[in-house]
Amino acid sequence: MDRLPISFNIRGRHVLFVGGGELAARKVRLVRRAGGRITVVAPQLNEELHDLAEARAITAVRRPFEPDDLMEAAIVFTATGRTDVDNSVAAAARACGIPVNAVDRPEISTFTVPAIVDRDPVVVSVATDGTAPVLARRIRAQIEQLLPSRLGRLAVFAAQFRAAVRGSVPEADRRGFWERFFSSPTADLVLRGETAAARENMLRAVNRQADGTAPGRVYIVGAGPGDPDLLSLRAFRLLQEADVIVYDRLVGPEVLDYARRDAERIYVGKAKGAHTKSQAWINNALAQHAHAGKIVVRLKGGDPFVFGRGGEELAHLRAHGVDAEVVPGITAATGCAAAAGIPLTERGIASGVTFVTGHGVEGDADIDWPALARSGNTLVIYMGVSTAPRIKAQLTRHGMRADMPVAIIENGTRTNQRVVTGALSGLAELVTAEGITGPAVIVVGEVARAGQAKVLATATPLRVVG
Ligand SMILES: C[S@@+](CC[C@H](N)C(=O)[O-])C[C@H]1O[C@@H](n2cnc3c(N)ncnc32)[C@H](O)[C@@H]1O
Repeated sequence: MDRLPISFNIRGRHVLFVGGGELAARKVRLVRRAGGRITVVAPQLNEELHDLAEARAITAVRRPFEPDDLMEAAIVFTATGRTDVDNSVAAAARACGIPVNAVDRPEISTFTVPAIVDRDPVVVSVATDGTAPVLARRIRAQIEQLLPSRLGRLAVFAAQFRAAVRGSVPEADRRGFWERFFSSPTADLVLRGETAAARENMLRAVNRQADGTAPGRVYIVGAGPGDPDLLSLRAFRLLQEADVIVYDRLVGPEVLDYARRDAERIYVGKAKGAHTKSQAWINNALAQHAHAGKIVVRLKGGDPFVFGRGGEELAHLRAHGVDAEVVPGITAATGCAAAAGIPLTERGIASGVTFVTGHGVEGDADIDWPALARSGNTLVIYMGVSTAPRIKAQLTRHGMRADMPVAIIENGTRTNQRVVTGALSGLAELVTAEGITGPAVIVVGEVARAGQAKVLATATPLRVVG
């Protein structure tokens, strides 16, 4: 890092601008928002600066720059559009030890101005050392989308309660209190503009803290199939707030990079047939951490309510008096189908889709194979790799065509994604020939042909077999 990002208070201070065009005007707008007293030195001013001078919002000096203009300046901007003039203004300012910014010329500037997201009093700045302003603006646009428009009000609201919280919450718990507050329904009320209701809630929360009865909370969060870009904004925010993260094997490692650094991370991965932690152990751990007043994120691959035992965990927590909420994720079926270009339903081809587990195929009475084989719906089979021969046998025995297209999507949406396609008759051979071992879903139905078409059309590393 070559430059130190700092916030400089220029309220009421003298800020000198050299140059009267659009470039200078843009920075003038920014400096006015921060309350600087602005003088613009330039032989000519554009319309905006001219109007500001007429309105006495800035002082205009209509002539070329002279070194004496630097007197009393706290900072200087030069944006004359002339390299030689900007060079000499920057040199003169540097000689006097006054911070100077030559617009779009980081090499002669002592400071640069970051791209900002303004939610006053919250200001997020994105700096690239002046090397990539367009990238900075793109990052700013992404942050703009992420931050609620009333975020500033939330900061002001919190500031109003700071003293009360200091008085009632012991220092060791204070950070946790604020973490909970910013993800609480009370914060949502502030963000919706319902300040009176938020104030009442907040008073109750502060009083409960004073009584020592502050509750924790568990969020059962879907992490999606692996690509961290597929996290929901809510999941992303909760990962940043959690005190404890309890996560599964199928949660992509990049997803965890978004978690708060000092959060406690508990791995409870379950490889098939080799349970690291029992479900009862997980349920108890979640409840215990919540009872200790922690914000807990129970992070699961895909969606918690699709073959994820999210329902069992939710029921357990509620039965033990723990506040719990489910945050949906993109399930493997929809994530993988999108990544492979396979529509799960399509007009005239498939009017429905069924998600089914292949895990219990050997003797699972719950799976109505005859109905599945005849339905005409697309089937997406989770956990079906090791039982592929039986799946094929069940479907063909109950009347599905042997040449029905199938697609296997392994490690869907991850960088090592593979899509292989073929026909139902060769499903088991496809699994063995391709050495499918990672998490994979099997799509069975006419729509799987689209996966094949994509493989052929794009000539990507995807493979067609059978
Ligand atoms: C226990 S289930 C969990 C499903 C998860 N809750 C969901 O909604 O996607 C695990 C199965 O999901 C499927 N799966 C999960 N992530 C996957 C991925 N990235 N690519 C392909 N299949 C995946 C595989 O069939 C895997 O065996």
